[in-house]
Amino acid sequence: MYKLIKPLIFSLNPELAHNIGVLFIKRGILSLFDSSPDEELAVRVANIDFPSPIGLAAGFDKNAEIFHEIFKIGFGFVEAGTVTPKPQYGNPKPRIFRLKEDLALINRLGFNNVGLDEFVSNIVTNKSVNNSQKIGANLGPNKDSVDRIGDYLEGIRRVSKVVDYITINVSSPNTENLRDFENSNIAELLKEIENNRVDDTPIFIKISPDVENKQISSVIEATIKHKMNGLIVSNTSKDRKFRLKSKNIPKDGGLSGSPILSLSNEKLSFAYSIAKSSIPIIGVGGVSSGADAYKKIKLGASLVQLYTSLIYEGPFLISKINNDLIELMKLDGVSSLSEVVGTTRLRS
Ligand SMILES: Cc1cc2nc3c(=O)[nH]c(=O)nc-3n(C[C@H](O)[C@H](O)[C@H](O)COP(=O)(O)O)c2cc1C
Repeated sequence: MYKLIKPLIFSLNPELAHNIGVLFIKRGILSLFDSSPDEELAVRVANIDFPSPIGLAAGFDKNAEIFHEIFKIGFGFVEAGTVTPKPQYGNPKPRIFRLKEDLALINRLGFNNVGLDEFVSNIVTNKSVNNSQKIGANLGPNKDSVDRIGDYLEGIRRVSKVVDYITINVSSPNTENLRDFENSNIAELLKEIENNRVDDTPIFIKISPDVENKQISSVIEATIKHKMNGLIVSNTSKDRKFRLKSKNIPKDGGLSGSPILSLSNEKLSFAYSIAKSSIPIIGVGGVSSGADAYKKIKLGASLVQLYTSLIYEGPFLISKINNDLIELMKLDGVSSLSEVVGTTRLRS
């Protein structure tokens, strides 16, 4: 069915197509693709019980308007945001580009969002009484903020009571100098977060795939020292070193989808070799099949997220990935995904 409407969707400007998609999702179109994950896929990570390890990555439901509908297609969790304290327009349009031949996207949205007031009220309104569906809030600072650390702290204060976990996004390539946090100032940020924590809602740190291994080690060290609860590897890539088939590649923005799979996996594997079981890792970047997700789990991911492949493959992808994971578990003779986390390693 998605194959039939995809040419129409792809004939529209990507951001317009997304906004129209959000309208249809709000009206319940995903009920047509209803599927819930099999019980065998349940995993417990950071003291949260997830019905499936497959989650929707940040950026699709920026304003927490549709996460409750998105669960219908089989996701175990949805990460809403990135949200900033004040509403923000983001960068000038156009700011999302399809690289069709590469099954990839480039975006330079720049944290367009409705701000914390509306975000929190949307979560409260849309959150179902079905507690098995897990929701995360991805936090960032406003572009013009003079106190970026203060912005993260405000976000934590405001969302803690209404979400299952929080992500500190220090890796968007589209907010100037934001990556300074992951490159050099992570300890300062995480120390402030530790000192201002309002409760025990798990906090994950999301890094880019463009960091050197040395920096990954520092981020992990600070994450453990300041009692954060996990690491997300990775955001989009600013790099243009990938061999891409598409022409007219935009220079600015973050690349996502198939081309970043192996880079993300390298960083994930390295991160796991340092973190081991001390903090869980959420693997994201280029996943478009059950085999890709299973590989991330074997490389050390306790949970897996995706975004770009959903645009190319459509809503049935998630139930297919869930089913394929069960087949792969059977082939390996394991009854729980936690048994295979970190069982292989890429050579670095
Ligand atoms: C259009 C678009 C918008 C995104 N916005 C955000 C965001 O607001 N915050 C964030 O942490 N990541 C954002 N991401 C990055 C994704 O969450 C994910 O880390 C990245 O796309 C790699 O996964 P994928 O290859 O499965 O898409 C965005 C990605 C895309 C494609």
